[in-house]
Amino acid sequence: MPKISDMLKGQGRHLSFHTPGHKRAGADITELSYSDNLYAPHGVLAEAEREIAAVLGAARSFLLTDGSTCGVFSMIAAVKAAGAERLAVPACSHPSVFHALEVMGMKPVVAAQAAERGIPLQPSEEELGRALKEADALLLTSPDYYGFFAPMEAARALCDGAGKPLLIDGAHGSHLHFTPACYAGGYADLWVDGVHKSLPALTQGAVVSAKTEAWGERLRRSVRLFRTTSPSYPIMASVEYAVKYPRSPAIERAAEAFKREYACVPNQDWTKLLIPFGDRCAEAQRALERRGVYPEFNDGNYLMFYLSPCTKVRDLKRLGRIVGKLPRGEVPGQAPSGEIPIYSEGP
Ligand SMILES: Cc1ncc(COP(=O)(O)O)c(C=O)c1O
Repeated sequence: MPKISDMLKGQGRHLSFHTPGHKRAGADITELSYSDNLYAPHGVLAEAEREIAAVLGAARSFLLTDGSTCGVFSMIAAVKAAGAERLAVPACSHPSVFHALEVMGMKPVVAAQAAERGIPLQPSEEELGRALKEADALLLTSPDYYGFFAPMEAARALCDGAGKPLLIDGAHGSHLHFTPACYAGGYADLWVDGVHKSLPALTQGAVVSAKTEAWGERLRRSVRLFRTTSPSYPIMASVEYAVKYPRSPAIERAAEAFKREYACVPNQDWTKLLIPFGDRCAEAQRALERRGVYPEFNDGNYLMFYLSPCTKVRDLKRLGRIVGKLPRGEVPGQAPSGEIPIYSEGP
């Protein structure tokens, strides 16, 4: 049962002489005597974090209301506290990884990623081994935005062999805790779950976890450096709800069938449907939006449609009826610019 939302529902009549300034109480309260304190939790938040850790297979998990970005910063600060100065990272890591390294005065050792038909491939085992030799820890992203898993088993073996920690940015993989063989928590010492992306949490809801008590203690200290001291109760309640949300075999099956029927890229993650529209991407996106259907992204070669256990099978069928009639263009061998088209800097 979700503990935080039960606490919020069970509140008595409130006269609010506390923040937030809207004075309406309800779910959007602050840290009060009965609602616990995220900085030093001992009540309902501590209980929720313990139960989340149990679901995710962690020794310790920490609720975040500041997105996976906060989790990435916290993991990197934790390895820095353990003595790491250089972090091996895939070239296409999220900007938060490079920003955290910059803030902490650490050096990235970049593992190259090839691209195939405009899609960045996960770094090879050899490339990870090379980068890890020059670094004190390894960070992977799994799954990536295109729905491919990092070579996590090989990375775990490399890190064990070198006695170095493995961090995984699972901003797009919180739904995978049901399947430990493809889940960050099955391999990493520290990992992030972007609960708001692929499970039904409010935007910015995330969790950062540690596999052992020793890493958990370092993570507890580093999380305090980055997360807000005014955490949103609606977001925290939604994270707990989302982590405990049941698996939906019906939508998972429907997603895999959709990939086959509509010639999607055969990726590994059921929540990410990648349709190659090539040079007709923009036209396809406009046609979809005219019908009130919005994809997650258009990278100039592919439209990506992001699912979750809350996606309705009938909505997926409607998507299929529309995309099945849209013309497809050529996807070039390489991305048009020769660069990998994600996370580019704005103007
Ligand atoms: C791989 C990856 N890591 C981290 C983040 C940061 O997540 P958030 O936006 O929840 O802070 C993102 C966001 O898109 C991402 O794609």
